[in-house]
Amino acid sequence: SVLPVIMAGGSGTRLWPLSRALYPKQFLILQGNQSLFQQAHLRLQDLACDGIAVAKPCVVGNEEHRFLVLDQLRELKGEPSSLLLEPAGRNTAPAVTLAALQATADGSDPILVVTPADQTVTDAAAYTDALRKAVCAAASGDIVILGITPDRPETGFGYIRTAAADAEGVRNVAAFVEKPNLETAQGYVADGGYFWNSGMFVMRASRWLAALAYFRQDIADTTRASFEVRTTDAQFVRPGKEAFQAVPSESVDYAVMEQCPAQPGCGFHVRMVPLDAGWSDLGAWDAVWQVSAQDADGNVRQGDAMIEDSHNTLVHATSRLVAAVGLDNVVVVETPDAVLVADRSRSQDVKKIVNKLASAS
Ligand code: GDD
Ligand code: MG
Repeated sequence: SVLPVIMAGGSGTRLWPLSRALYPKQFLILQGNQSLFQQAHLRLQDLACDGIAVAKPCVVGNEEHRFLVLDQLRELKGEPSSLLLEPAGRNTAPAVTLAALQATADGSDPILVVTPADQTVTDAAAYTDALRKAVCAAASGDIVILGITPDRPETGFGYIRTAAADAEGVRNVAAFVEKPNLETAQGYVADGGYFWNSGMFVMRASRWLAALAYFRQDIADTTRASFEVRTTDAQFVRPGKEAFQAVPSESVDYAVMEQCPAQPGCGFHVRMVPLDAGWSDLGAWDAVWQVSAQDADGNVRQGDAMIEDSHNTLVHATSRLVAAVGLDNVVVVETPDAVLVADRSRSQDVKKIVNKLASAS
């Protein structure tokens, strides 16, 4: 069977001040009528088809967001098969490992369809087709990732170099580079032979556990130790708190995806299915501007916002009227206790403010 796994425990710092520790970006409505987490859940509903039975999703998130997760699923008449609650974020490699341990605890070995909760897709049918293809490719034991054709040298993504496609359009992954510097990313985009990593991946639970144990035995062992002392309360599954805090923090991308193609003798194969479905990662305000409805001058108004004689500017108001005059390429985000005004091209650097705030408190 197929088990969707939604990773929903990130902190979304680049979307400050709207995204906050207690209410991070994946639970916000940034575009359309549903939160990003709800959109991720809804997209996975359509995955089922002849020969593919899809279980209720396993959600891996932070202890502090458990009721947000349940409330947002309930609004869609959904519920998780299990909700794994981390006492603290240890990035995505431990999160996926918890899901794989939970999925195999009863002796079964489902194909995990792992997805982030911070993305939007405009072509749902193309998305579903690509994921089904990935599920079929993963049945044989491979790790399958979904790749996007890049249109800019974005440094916040993983880059994938592939060999030629097989008859199904599935490609062997020759190299994976997580978050290259700008110069390297520019080279990859100019080369034309690279895809972005979408952050979704598909593989049997047992294959993930084996691959992680091969490349990062430390993460595999410590995560397993925390899972062995878990407590279960209805759908909430909590790894042991102290044991989980001892798990090294690392992303799936660094822990396994970069290593695997670089070590052909490892016995694990990474393959890629191209995804052409209007995908965006809403990582920073620039991306929110990009995917939102713009007027003829490229301005985006969210909430009680007025914009005059401005271009390509986003104004997001939550608690009062916000007016902008004569601005170009600016982002203004108003919340009751904090206001951000930033050059749109510097959206990624909002993280610097959040880091300063965190170290000051
Ligand atoms: N449960 C849990 N625990 N989830 C987490 C944690 C954690 O500690 N950290 C992050 N997540 C969730 C986030 O909420 C998000 O939905 C997803 O995992 C991916 O994490 P990000 O922190 O957003 O990763 P990224 O955007 O920097 O990079 C990844 O995604 C890119 C595409 O959007 C990588 O996979 C890149 O290679 C990829 O290009
Ligand atoms: Mg992300």
